[in-house]
Parts: sequence; structure tokens; C-alpha cells
Amino acid sequence: MGRLAGKTAFITGAAGGLGRSHVRRLAEEGADIVAVDICRSIDTVPYPLSTPAELQSTVEEVEVLGRRIIAREADVRDRQALQAAFDEGVKEFGGIDVVVANAGIAPMLIEDRPQAWQDVIDVNLTGTFNTVEVAIPSMIERDHGGSVIIISSTAGLTGIGGSSNGGLGYSASKHGVVGLMRSYANNLAEHSIRVNSVHPTGVSTRMVTDPAILEFVAQDAGAQRMPPNALPVEAVEPVDVSNAVLWLASDEARYVTGIMLPVDAGFTNRR
Ligand SMILES: NC(=O)c1ccc[n+]([C@@H]2O[C@H](COP(=O)([O-])OP(=O)(O)OC[C@H]3O[C@@H](n4cnc5c(N)ncnc54)[C@H](O)[C@@H]3O)[C@@H](O)[C@H]2O)c1
Repeated sequence: MGRLAGKTAFITGAAGGLGRSHVRRLAEEGADIVAVDICRSIDTVPYPLSTPAELQSTVEEVEVLGRRIIAREADVRDRQALQAAFDEGVKEFGGIDVVVANAGIAPMLIEDRPQAWQDVIDVNLTGTFNTVEVAIPSMIERDHGGSVIIISSTAGLTGIGGSSNGGLGYSASKHGVVGLMRSYANNLAEHSIRVNSVHPTGVSTRMVTDPAILEFVAQDAGAQRMPPNALPVEAVEPVDVSNAVLWLASDEARYVTGIMLPVDAGFTNRR
């Protein structure tokens, strides 16, 4: 029996990077999955977002594990599309126990544009709001409790975004979701729905390994000033973050709510 046997998880940004890792890790522990991803790129994001084929790979990874999955193309900025995917999941699986608001972008551009601020706020902050909002009514009505996990960043705990439109927006959005997390944790506690945020340091995904981002970092004064992690590791692996998500999703964390959990190799404490 897995640690999430009998549970279903709704996960955004599930076609690549951390999102696919959360899907895999939660499915390994017995969860069925409702996965959404935008499956197309956004103009102000200098690295490619995921494709429909990558979402299909996520599906195959879950099916190989013998778990069930519904995967839909949906933009977290589009509340209706998100609601439709969530509702399909409820219909198919009978209810959602775990929500992982993971989708996010880092629109750090060498040729800075004001639109980068708007896009990152829309995806990372409003998209997280939309993700939790579409889930709450049915979770409350079902009366089984649940766990909501919001993926923030060390940029949601410290002022490391630098001075570009995208960098400031990234840090503001990642701090913003902490406000959402704290309010939701209080609002939903009486329904035994727990809400927590996870704050990774750099993780080896396209968001930090793509050449366009490396080029941005090489010329951005703010990024250059960033200290290294305390532990001797440059970037953690997606599964390190997914293991924290798994713990928060599981009953092992049944009395944990309203916390910010860094998975940061000591980065935040060192500053
Ligand atoms: N990689 C890091 O170093 C790092 C560090 C801290 C926090 N994070 C956070 O982790 C989360 C996942 O990032 P990642 O590193 O896996 O990046 P990634 O780019 O590898 O994956 C992000 C996924 O989200 C999807 N997505 C983007 N915008 C979307 C939208 N509007 N609607 C639906 N799906 C969308 C993309 O298609 C992609 O599949 C993000 O919230 C990010 O801010 C990442």
C-alpha cells in the first residue's frame, strides 16, 4: 500500500520539470492524477514551455505505474478551462484529495519588457489563485479534508529577483502565493483542508538550465550577486522537491498547515 493509496491529486504544470516529477512521485505512492499543462510557450518566457507530446509522456509514466490519469491542456490563467479539467477529474475519480499548484514561469529577458511583469503575475499568482479556487467548493462539499500544496520559491522568502520586470514579478508572485497560502490555511482549517507552500532553491529543470536563462543570469547583476546554497550542491533535483510535496500530501503531515517549507539546501538560512 502506497502512502497516497486511494487518493487523487490535481497537479498543474504537469507536462515537464517539477510538475511531471510530482505526478510520478505521487503516482508511485498510489495516487490517481488529474494533470493540466498549458502545452505551448508564452512570448515573454525565453525558454520553451512544454508540448502536448510531453504531456502525453506524463500520461504514459503514470499508466506504466498502473495508476489512472486524466490529462488536459489548460492554461492556469483560464479559470473556465481549469474548472473543466478539475470537474472531469471529480467525475472520473469521485473527488480530489490533493491539489498541487505548481505551474509557473520565469520571464527573465535580456531585452526587458513590461509585459514580463504582467505575465508572471498572471501565471504564478493569479494562476495559483485560480487553481485553488476551482478545487475548494468540491473539496468542502465532499467533506474528506485534503491537502493543498503551493509551489513558491526561495524567491518567495528573500529578495533575490533582481531588477528586471520579470525578476521583480517573479519574486512578487512567489511572495504573493505565501499570502494566499496563509489565508487559505486559516479559511479551510475547519474543513480539515491543509494548505502549505514549498520553497525550492534552484532545481535542475529548463527554468534554470535552458541556455536563454543561463545567458540572462550571466549578464544580470542581481543574479550574479546571489550567494550559493549552504550545502555543497548547485541545484537540487526535481524529486527532492516532490518528496516534500508527497509528505505534505500524505497523512504523515495531517496536522501540518500554514507552513512555508524550504527545500533549499540551506540557501535561505545562509543569507
Ligand atoms: N526550477 C527551479 O529552479 C525552481 C525553483 C523554485 C521554484 N520553482 C517553481 O517550480 C514550479 C515548476 O517550475 P519548473 O522548474 O518545473 O519549470 P518548467 O518550465 O520546467 O515547468 C513548468 C511547467 O509549467 C507549465 N506551465 C507554464 N505556464 C503555464 C500555465 N500558464 N498554465 C499551465 N501550465 C503552465 C509549463 O508548460 C511546464 O510544463 C514553478 O512554479 C517555479 O516557479 C522552480
